[in-house]
Amino acid sequence: MKTQVAIIGAGPAGLMLSQILHLQGIESIVLETRSREAIEATIRAGVLEQGTIDLMTEIGAGARMQREGFRHEGTILRFDGIDRRIDFPELTGGKAVMVYAQHEVIKDLVEVRLASGGDIRFEVSDVSLHGLDSTSPSVRFRQPGGELQTIEADFIAGCDGTQGVSRPSIPRGVLKGFERLYPFGWLGILCKAPPSSDELIYALGERGFALVSTRSPEVQRMYLQCEPTDKIENWSDDRIWSELRARLATRDGWAPIEGEIFSKTVVGMRSFVTEPMQYGRLFLAGDAAHVVPPTGAKGLNLAVADVRVLARAFGAFYKSGREDLLERYSDIALRRIWKAQRFSWWMTSMLHRFPGADEFQHKVQIAELDYVTGSRAASTALAENYVGLPFDEPAH
Ligand code: FAD
Ligand code: DHB
Repeated sequence: MKTQVAIIGAGPAGLMLSQILHLQGIESIVLETRSREAIEATIRAGVLEQGTIDLMTEIGAGARMQREGFRHEGTILRFDGIDRRIDFPELTGGKAVMVYAQHEVIKDLVEVRLASGGDIRFEVSDVSLHGLDSTSPSVRFRQPGGELQTIEADFIAGCDGTQGVSRPSIPRGVLKGFERLYPFGWLGILCKAPPSSDELIYALGERGFALVSTRSPEVQRMYLQCEPTDKIENWSDDRIWSELRARLATRDGWAPIEGEIFSKTVVGMRSFVTEPMQYGRLFLAGDAAHVVPPTGAKGLNLAVADVRVLARAFGAFYKSGREDLLERYSDIALRRIWKAQRFSWWMTSMLHRFPGADEFQHKVQIAELDYVTGSRAASTALAENYVGLPFDEPAH
């Protein structure tokens, strides 16, 4: 079979790319190893930047998000037992974020893509990429119980996340990886309780980091800094609540509203970027090309920003045969990616307790939080990165 762009992976990057291409009159086929049910049920990120909100709306996938998502116009930084608020619209000329779970984004993107005649093949296996340095690359794959099939395409978009086949299909020596590992992870929980706070709370306590987020009036999302390879079995419900209470304590006695915990996950934390993000006719986007630590909620938004740049480059190619935007895809995307990397690394460093850190380091972290929330210039820097830098930054 033939298509214009073969897309590997039905995460936010692959699905969004397929829909934007469709709206530009460009055909694609999306291949996904997992089932539709599985991708629609995987609990991950929850904060959408202004640019992601706008793009979801622009491509016709934003109606439920606008109805059911929560617009957050600020966030709380909690340290030394006190709260300081960062006001997003005031500091960014009216921008805000939306708290809306990634798996809801996935449901909306799958629905809109299928409703517009999109071709998404779920539960494929044996995916392999061929002829990347030719003008007619191809993808081989198998559908459940079926023969190997081949898609001949003009281009391949590698949107298959950290464990995908796309990046490893690029010959050795072409890519350079930049990596930083953090000596901690996040334990994430979902619980049945009303919201503990109207806005997200990023807290640094003497025992480490904690984050209060939300999902709905009945379901709350909270995170705790833990060991990078911690096991769920180490975290009884009692231990989780006791750590959350300790790390989130304020001078005036704040405590989270507790409820039945029905999901617990541990994620390790690292920063990773590959350069360039392309080889011949293969273009990487999202987690296939880079990973951020979750502090600051940039992962999903970066994936969306990448495919926005990539879709524009494909659009220029099919409209007028221009190849320059495709050639410059990595350079254009990487400028924004490195800024999001910097922000995620900075938020992570400012808000976590490092193993072996002494009181001096803790005092410096508290001073930084005091400065960031006390200076309008510094608060503005945090706010404009949190709501998201522009998707359409001009290239050098
Ligand atoms: P993915 O969402 O990973 O999608 C890739 C898709 O490709 C998957 O559906 C996968 O099944 C599929 N695939 C893989 N291999 C193949 C193959 N060979 N062939 C076909 N398909 C394939 N970010 C935050 O900002 N905040 C958070 O709290 C947060 N929590 C996270 C928790 C977890 C457990 C993980 C893993 C990530 C989290 N992230 C978080 C990051 C965020 O979810 C990702 O940045 C985002 O999903 C990236 O989107 P993507 O489309 O690039 O990749
Ligand atoms: C959520 C995740 C994040 O990484 C973050 O910084 C804020 C909120 C969330 O899942 O709700």
